[in-house]
Amino acid sequence: MRVLGIESSCDETGLAVYDGKAGVLGEVLHSQAVLHSAYGGVVPELASRDHIRQISPLLAALLKQTNLSLTDIDAIAYTAGPGLVGALLVGATFARALAVAQTIPSLAINHLEAHLLTGLLIKPAPEFPFLALLVSGGHTLLVRADGIGQYVVLGRSCDDAAGECFDKIATLLGLTYPGGAKLARLAEEGNPKAIHFPRPMTAHNASLDFSFSGLKTSVAEWIAQHCNEKVDKDLPTQLRSDIAASFQEAVVDTIVWKCVRALKITGLTNLMIAGGVAANSRLRILLDTALSDINVDLFCPQPALCTDNGVMIAHAGWQRFNHQHHADVPNAAIEVFPRWPIEQPHAPI
Ligand code: KG4
Ligand code: ZN
Repeated sequence: MRVLGIESSCDETGLAVYDGKAGVLGEVLHSQAVLHSAYGGVVPELASRDHIRQISPLLAALLKQTNLSLTDIDAIAYTAGPGLVGALLVGATFARALAVAQTIPSLAINHLEAHLLTGLLIKPAPEFPFLALLVSGGHTLLVRADGIGQYVVLGRSCDDAAGECFDKIATLLGLTYPGGAKLARLAEEGNPKAIHFPRPMTAHNASLDFSFSGLKTSVAEWIAQHCNEKVDKDLPTQLRSDIAASFQEAVVDTIVWKCVRALKITGLTNLMIAGGVAANSRLRILLDTALSDINVDLFCPQPALCTDNGVMIAHAGWQRFNHQHHADVPNAAIEVFPRWPIEQPHAPI
């Protein structure tokens, strides 16, 4: 079965084709980062309009790249939530209309589940059950995955998501939105031990929930107290790098601590990481070190599959169709779900 996947939940328009036998046949991706950078964050209305502009040409480019025609596609999967309502509606409407026109099934996909399932693209793939760490711009979750559609959330962020925290500190350091990956590059030149920032909620028997907003405030206050210069790119280069590296170390240490605790509590022996922050190389290195001490296998999708993309939706769609998940009813209303918890296996209609 060949599934066309369409992602449009936030600021990336991504389309891909996943084939049950051959794997990923092709992928196209358009990032709106430049469009939103002037505003310091995603502007929902601009995002929706850009998805509308991009989606048809991207489909044409994907078909050309894969040498396929629409008649070669057996089903369409699209992100139906969580995400920005207008952005989701563009992908959902496009996918549903295309499916009706081609008389093929379409399926609403949960963006968080799609991130989580990217680990199954790794060869050899982790076997269920496994622990999944999902760290993105909007979510920080520790999930026990027992099977396709069977997820138990063990911990979640009480406030800022990990990626959101990266982006906000990056802005303080004068980096343009989205600044997570740029901050990580800046941190490569810095000393992670230069400044000690707190590792929130890592006291002896803390819960598996996360809270990054206090850490964010602590970095902002440190900069305000110690730097006479403007809190941005006018800071001396080495100091900016040291702040970036010390902040990154605090976030990564906290995430690693939570993962190790979750693995000890659950007894699971596989950890899969997903979401934009999972592309962070310091996180991968420190997780690798911590897990080798406790005999847990770490599964990291390639960085390009950690950030939003169409492959994860096409693949999740294939998994769902393969597990007899029911397709959309062709004539039913097109619905999207800005909030759609990962524990809820079906679209919350
Ligand atoms: O999964 P994703 O592409 O979109 C959401 O579903 O939110 O994640 C985007 C987030 C942004 O906050 C971005 O700054 C962050 O992931 N990110 C990183 C890195 N690459 C992307 N954060 C830290 N280090 C990175 N290398
Ligand atoms: Zn995402």
